[in-house]
Amino acid sequence: VDPQIQALLDLYADATKLYHHFLVNTAVGEQALDYLHERGLDDGTIDAYSLGFAPTGDVLLKYFEEKKIDYQLLRASELFVTWSDGTLHDRFNDRVLFTIRNAKGQPIAYSGRKLTSGDDEPKYINSPESPLFEKSRELFNLDMAKNAIRKSKQVILFEGFMDVIAAFQAGINNGVASMGTSLTPEQVHILNRMAESISVTYDADSAGQAATKRALDLIAMNSQLKAQVVHIPDNQDPDEFLRSHDSTAFTNVFVHNTEDPVAFNIRYLQTDRNMNNQAEVFAYIADVLPVIASVDEPLIRETYLAQLSDAYHISLAGLQQQIQPLLLAKI
Ligand code: CTP
Ligand code: MN
Ligand code: MN
Ligand code: MN
Ligand code: MN
Repeated sequence: VDPQIQALLDLYADATKLYHHFLVNTAVGEQALDYLHERGLDDGTIDAYSLGFAPTGDVLLKYFEEKKIDYQLLRASELFVTWSDGTLHDRFNDRVLFTIRNAKGQPIAYSGRKLTSGDDEPKYINSPESPLFEKSRELFNLDMAKNAIRKSKQVILFEGFMDVIAAFQAGINNGVASMGTSLTPEQVHILNRMAESISVTYDADSAGQAATKRALDLIAMNSQLKAQVVHIPDNQDPDEFLRSHDSTAFTNVFVHNTEDPVAFNIRYLQTDRNMNNQAEVFAYIADVLPVIASVDEPLIRETYLAQLSDAYHISLAGLQQQIQPLLLAKI
């Protein structure tokens, strides 16, 4: 390993221990620990994920300065922000820290969540890219989930850290998340090498559904993974659902509240369209026919076309004619 990379890995390992110590052993971290307990996390989970607390007052900087760590190394770590006078200051202040680990389990970045809601600070602050952290190539929890993913050939894709962690605590250990940034082709390639199927389990809100649409398209373009969409009931995210239901109820959602990508698209592409307006119906048809054309089985394609014909009182023969060039383009 490159000596600078090793030095940075050592720095993150140290920082993670310090932040975890503040969370679990000190008065300054008490409120943050209460916060995590109130969100349903137990001490075993808090340990397993090396969750931490970053106090105010440049504590990390002081800690590394006492250890005589080189300024340039500290700067390269992105653990600090550089002020215009060149001085370094802790990047994370008064935040709960989710430690981002690479596939080997080494800490390489953090995401810091504020404890209170209401002020205009962003809810999460993430580490920027660094020599250790190439955002588009990392998946949160891959280190802990990889064995379960390889064994079951199934991966669950969540939206947030808390979703992954709540699932893990409920005994569902093949979950990963793409960390705020939307899913990337590189992340899909990694999962494609490990799994055969993927369950996209994003939040039920409109942002989550829009992200689901993007994720399905990306998965289809970049992998052979068989995808399904999992719908969390009651407009909740998986973490909220698990707070009020047991893991059996959660597993049931995975069995019963699912949709294949074609059905998802046929439904989702209607979003924000007035289906009483003929022009909008035709625009919808233009969007949805490529989706139906992607289905290999003629019988299933015909069934979808018949449903469209029924639902919007449009000619089945016209639909069949309009899908023809798309089918020919497939061959
Ligand atoms: N995110 C982010 N910056 C924000 C908001 C969200 O990076 N200002 C990322 C985080 O990775 C977060 C994910 O997007 O986990 C999903 O966002 P959201 O659903 O709003 O967050 P939750 O994971 O539900 O967070 P929490 O339960 O802590 O409120
Ligand atoms: Mn501990
Ligand atoms: Mn969300
Ligand atoms: Mn959420
Ligand atoms: Mn949440």
